[in-house]
Amino acid sequence: MKTKIYELQEKHLDFHAIQEAAEVIRNNGTVVFPTETVYGLGANALSQEAARAIYAAKGRPSDNPLIVHISSIDMLLYVIGEPLSLTAKKLMNKFWPGPLTLIFKKSSAVPMEVTAGLGTVAVRMPDNDIALELIKQSGLPIAAPSANISGKPSPTKAEHVIGDLQDRVDVILSGSSSRVGLESTVLDLTGEVPTILRPGGVTLEELQEVIGEVHIDKGLTCKETAPKAPGMKYTHYAPEAAMTILKGELPKVVKAIQQLTEEQTKLGKLVGILATEETKQSYQEGVIVSMGSRDNLYTAAAAIFDALRQFDKQKVDIIYAEALSEENIGMAVMNRLKKAAGFNIIEV
Ligand code: TXA
Ligand code: MG
Repeated sequence: MKTKIYELQEKHLDFHAIQEAAEVIRNNGTVVFPTETVYGLGANALSQEAARAIYAAKGRPSDNPLIVHISSIDMLLYVIGEPLSLTAKKLMNKFWPGPLTLIFKKSSAVPMEVTAGLGTVAVRMPDNDIALELIKQSGLPIAAPSANISGKPSPTKAEHVIGDLQDRVDVILSGSSSRVGLESTVLDLTGEVPTILRPGGVTLEELQEVIGEVHIDKGLTCKETAPKAPGMKYTHYAPEAAMTILKGELPKVVKAIQQLTEEQTKLGKLVGILATEETKQSYQEGVIVSMGSRDNLYTAAAAIFDALRQFDKQKVDIIYAEALSEENIGMAVMNRLKKAAGFNIIEV
């Protein structure tokens, strides 16, 4: 198929382009759109045929459920099969629109293809005017996974999407770089205690402030337990080259990466180094990419996926990455790093 690409600006919405894209959604086609987290590959969340088109474009296994994007509370109430709890209301008030996905019992309006056979549905209201206008104009909730080929780092820039999905989708709405840069936090509200199934743009600490006790799915931290969010079990976000994370006191980490880089370079390998603003000057050889500042890990969140894709572009043979703090937003950044490295971590 030939993909139509429209360049849009959030501040000056091109309503004509969004109208056309909305028409594609109503006809069960596929539209890539920007959100504040990562770009999404969207289609009508109420149609089996549309859900299948998403899985086909992405090359995604169909046992991995999709997030349903909404622009109003009426739309939320249409896709969930339970009354809103006080907890849900508090969370929506505080974090929507924004990078928080909530899991509810699903209503019969949502086909099993969207939820991959589960009785629950994941919903969020994105904080991006292009996304919200697209949902409003189409008058439909939009199911959308991240708009990357399955297994690749999620797309945070239009060029990533165009590289992965051109001629595999009907429309691409290209906007600016994603502000948050990693995906939404997925929070399961169907159990006794709200549980994080995927760390993301809203932190554990922020959630606790609003609703008190919050659990973290055991599958995220323990290799032996299967994660509850089916998507978390796949190798993900992986750059082409094998990646190792080095963890420990920072000077030791830097020294270890310097040594490994020297060894590998001598063997004729091109080494990629995932460093930080504070350490990038310490390295001389290889492809050195800074993922942002240790003082503000939101910068690392925004840069991480682009950094991983840069290593692919430069065709490095092997990658060494510095570990970051796992507090606050660091939890989500480190989760993506560990998955990109296939949990290959060396303590120094
Ligand atoms: O920020 C985001 O969430 C982006 C943008 C486009 O909104 N979307 C996104 O979608 O990351 P995706 O499909 O790449 O990841 C959805 C995650 C997967 O890990 C999936 O298994 C989980 O959410 N998920 C979806 N529905 C679920 C459900 N009913 N129960 C448990 N996990 C669910
Ligand atoms: Mg994804």
